[in-house]
Amino acid sequence: EKGGYEHYMRKEIHEQPESLRQTLAGRLDVSAGDVDLDVSFPPGFLADLEEIRIVACGTSYYAGRYAAQLFEELAGVRATVEIASEYEFGAGRTPDRTLVVAVTQSGETADTLGAVRRANAAGARTFAVTNTLGSTVTREVDGTAFIRAGPEIGVAATKTFASQVATLAMLAVAVGRDRGALAAADARSVLKDLQGLPGAVQQVLDEEEQVREAAREYGDGEAFFFVGRALGVPVALEGALKLKEISYDHAEGFAAGELKHGPLALVTPDTPVLAVLTDGARAAETMNNVTEAQTRGAPALGCVSAGDTYDTLDVSFEVPNVGVVEPLVANVYLQLFAYHVANDKGRAIDKPRNLAKSVTVE
Ligand code: F6R
Repeated sequence: EKGGYEHYMRKEIHEQPESLRQTLAGRLDVSAGDVDLDVSFPPGFLADLEEIRIVACGTSYYAGRYAAQLFEELAGVRATVEIASEYEFGAGRTPDRTLVVAVTQSGETADTLGAVRRANAAGARTFAVTNTLGSTVTREVDGTAFIRAGPEIGVAATKTFASQVATLAMLAVAVGRDRGALAAADARSVLKDLQGLPGAVQQVLDEEEQVREAAREYGDGEAFFFVGRALGVPVALEGALKLKEISYDHAEGFAAGELKHGPLALVTPDTPVLAVLTDGARAAETMNNVTEAQTRGAPALGCVSAGDTYDTLDVSFEVPNVGVVEPLVANVYLQLFAYHVANDKGRAIDKPRNLAKSVTVE
């Protein structure tokens, strides 16, 4: 049932062009510059909205971090992201005119359900973005958008991350249009980028051999640092999480500008740096930080927008031009890197030690 793949994780990475097509199917109206997610809010609710508060855990939290930037940029609404287990017991103010969005692949994560319950009790309007029809979260929120990624068996979330970000991007366009914060022409350009997403991901998958070689050459590093800016930050964090959970190597992700505020002390010739150097990720500034690491001898691997070149990189992975979803496409290189590093080490990729697919305890 792994369809010829040795692990579900690799199968699911390769399913992404198709799962993303399902996520987007029938939902984009490019000519009108609008989105049909089949969700409704009370009249005037979105226009008066003061804040979108995203709550989630792990990979879904990083999808939320990506989306929050899109909500701010496209929907003109303050968007914050909180780790569900922190929100649940936090002392945040009464969520008046707030939409609390729970992002959860399984719809069963105890911490995320706890956060939704706190939001409901405080009188907030709640919304879920999930992969799972009939899951607990869908019964406890005011509205749901399904990401339609299909079943994910590997413990490490891959295709569901991509579909979460794509769904949230559509939601950001829908909210922006409804609030009058996003011009039709600007919406159209984002929707075209989304339309290009499945094909762009396929182009990355076609480069798997390059990633396999890079994993072989750099996979025995002492630690791995993932950096990016703006939309590249959540991707750096996700890249590090993927590598640590399946390879058991020490990996850390952070905003590239933070390197010089501490982590640079850890950088040596044995700590490869992986950078998101695409549109939406302030590539030029990020490259300055990468150079600081290279000066300390670290090898540097970058995911670079097609058409750009950085001669000093040790490895350049080319990312097709798809605007605000380029960092999401870059993430596919990081998924493949994590997979091949872990596979070379003979790890239990689909069932990493100490982890479960669905975390139903707090
Ligand atoms: C990492 C991973 C976890 C989940 C987290 C939330 O690869 O899969 O970090 O993202 O446990 O799970 P859901 O999205 O089901 O709430």
